[in-house]
This record gives sequence, structure tokens and C-alpha cells, in this order.
Amino acid sequence: MSHTKQAITDVLSTIRHPELGNDVISLGMIQNLTIESNKISFTLALQKPNDPFASSIRKACVKAIHQNLGEDAEVSIELKVPAVQTKESPYKLQASVSKVKNIIAIASGKGGVGKSTVAVNLAVAMAKTGASVGLIDADIFGPSIPKMLGMEDAKPEITKEGELELITPVENHGVKHLSIGFFVNPNDALVWRGAMATNALRQLIHQGAWGELDYLLIDLPPGTSDIHLTLVQEVSVTGAIIVSTPQDVALADAIKGISMFTGKSIDVPILGLVENMAWFTPEELPNNRYYIFGKDGCKKLAERMRLPLLGQIPIVQSIREGGDSGVPIASKPGILADSFDALAKEVISQLIIRNTERPETKRVEIKHK
Ligand SMILES: Nc1ncnc2c1ncn2[C@@H]1O[C@H](COP(=O)(O)OP(=O)(O)OP(=O)(O)O)[C@@H](O)[C@H]1O
Ligand SMILES: [Mg+2]
Repeated sequence: MSHTKQAITDVLSTIRHPELGNDVISLGMIQNLTIESNKISFTLALQKPNDPFASSIRKACVKAIHQNLGEDAEVSIELKVPAVQTKESPYKLQASVSKVKNIIAIASGKGGVGKSTVAVNLAVAMAKTGASVGLIDADIFGPSIPKMLGMEDAKPEITKEGELELITPVENHGVKHLSIGFFVNPNDALVWRGAMATNALRQLIHQGAWGELDYLLIDLPPGTSDIHLTLVQEVSVTGAIIVSTPQDVALADAIKGISMFTGKSIDVPILGLVENMAWFTPEELPNNRYYIFGKDGCKKLAERMRLPLLGQIPIVQSIREGGDSGVPIASKPGILADSFDALAKEVISQLIIRNTERPETKRVEIKHK
């Protein structure tokens, strides 16, 4: 039997939103109502992202239609959720980053351990899986990603949408990219650069025209800094990846980096550790391994801290050359690309586990004096 729109809206107008008081028709929550013989479909447009009544209203709609119009009605309801609005940020364009499914911080305690190299190759390997991937270079001390992605001279386009200025990320090797280096002059004094950099990072996050992304990777400067704090205040960081070499001094700093993220006030989960420069392998003797920074240091630390070891990457000349030439090694088929592919797979698995086991990370509240 076919039903009329009038009959259906009459039935739905008996369902009230328990919190808002009015019925779902007068609240404008029923949209795109279509009827095809006994198939009734519509969109239930929620007014806030985490409406606790979404599921009960949906069930009530189905029940009311069945009771009033007959059990044979096939009801299909799609939920429409508005974009998340975050509170304190001065930037209006919150929709940009709200379409990013996972934000991943790449950090280390010590400098020079290969964060940027790992970030670039991981981003390229993730993009090869068919995912949409963005990468922000948040290192004010030495932005290096534009060079590693072969986009040193790129100038991101700035467009106006009403009052808003949007920055279009540049793209290479399947990765959308923006760097603090595009906006902060490296010759400016470090203190001045620091103040500008936190602001620049906010803009890259909120005004970057990221669109829908599966993964947005943030390559952080070494240690713990204002940049780290800005990041966890501005967005909900899904998880952090800690890069270290197996050397004791690097591991000691890695522990400090881990503590920063897992501390009570920040509480960002660690997805795992990456042991970079795990051994040296000469290109011409691929089966030889020389453990110049020690053997399995990071692996043992991961076991001790009960964190996943996401991968072990050797020191190989072509990894460095890939970085210097702007053609990441992960983009060229070979055993090194295979190890970054395996790393990407492990990171994606850990993200799935993290997202099923833990709620969304809370942004760190900014305390106004
Ligand atoms: N697995 C590797 N094999 C060979 N060279 C590597 C490897 N990892 C990193 N490098 C080289 O080591 C140097 C430092 O790496 P990278 O810039 O990625 O470190 P970083 O931790 O980001 O440094 P910073 O703390 O300055 O940001 C670079 O010249 C890079 O090409
Ligand atoms: Mg770096």
C-alpha cells in the first residue's frame, strides 16, 4: 500500500524531542521525505552533534509509522549530524578540521632521530592504501617537510570565502601538505618566530582547506614546546607516534615525550613507537646489519611500557637521499617502501583499536586569566 506525505507528517508530528519539547516536524528535523510504494525514507536532521536522543527518536519514528500506517511500511531513516563546533578557538572555520577523521602527532624527545623522515614516508605509505592524507609541518626550528616532499618552492594559494581566508594545501606524492615554513621567515629571531609559529599552526589547522581526510599527520619539533601545547588545545589529537633511535640518550628523551602526552592534563594516547635507524645496512650488502646505535633499544622500551612497536626502520643511504631529493623512498617500489607500507598498516590497525576502545580525546582547556 502506498502512503501520502500528509499521513506520514501527521504521524511524525506526534513525536516530540524530549529535551527541546517540540515535535520533530515543527523542529524541521524531518527532511527529504520520499515515498515509493511501501518504502518510506527521510533524513532525521539533528541539531547538535552528540544528541543523546537521536537513537530513541529514530526508533519512535519507525514505531509510530508501523502502528498508524501498518507493519508493511519499510522505513529507512538517515541521521544527519551537524559539524562539530569547538568553543574557544578564535577561528570561525571549524568545519575544515572537523572533517578529518584522525589527527596523529609525530613526536620524539630528541632532535634529529628521524621524525620528519618517518612522518613523510608514513604519510606517503598511508596515501598508497587509498586513504586521503594530510601532513602539517609544525617544526619552527627547522621546517623540513616541504623539501622532503619536493615542494620547497611551493606557494599555497590563499582564497577568500566570504570573510574567511582559506589556505589550499599543496599536494605531492598523494599527500596534502602545509608547512609553518611557508609562512614564517627562518631568518627571524627565534623568540619572534616562536610567537608567530603558534599562531601559524592555528591557521594551518583551521584555515587549511583540508576537506575530508582520513589521516592528518602533524610533524612536531623535538622535545616539548609551545607548539605541542597549542596543538592539543586546538584539536582533539587521536594519538601520538613516538620516534626514537635505539640509543640510550634518545630513549631517555622518548620517555619524556611519552609522559608529556600521557600526563593527566593532556591525556593523548600513544599509538606506538617507531624505532628509526634500528641498524645500518649498506645498499650493496642488504643482508648485513650493523647495530650502530645499539640493538632493539626501542623495541625493549615498547615492551617495558606496554606500548606497540609500530616498526623498525634501518639506516639506509637511499632513505636520506629520498629526503634530500624530494622523492620519499616510500614512493619507490622496493624493500624500504615495503617497510613503510608495513608501518602504515600497523598504524592504521592501532588507530582502529584506539578508536574502538577509547572515547575521542578531549582538547586541553585553555585557562583564561
Ligand atoms: N632511516 C634513515 N636512514 C638514513 N637516513 C635517515 C634515516 N632517518 C633519518 N635520516 C636522515 O637523518 C637526518 C635527520 O632526520 P629528520 O630530519 O627526519 O629528523 P628529525 O627528528 O625530524 O629532526 P629534527 O629534530 O631536526 O626535526 C636527515 O638528514 C635524514 O635524511
Ligand atoms: Mg624534523
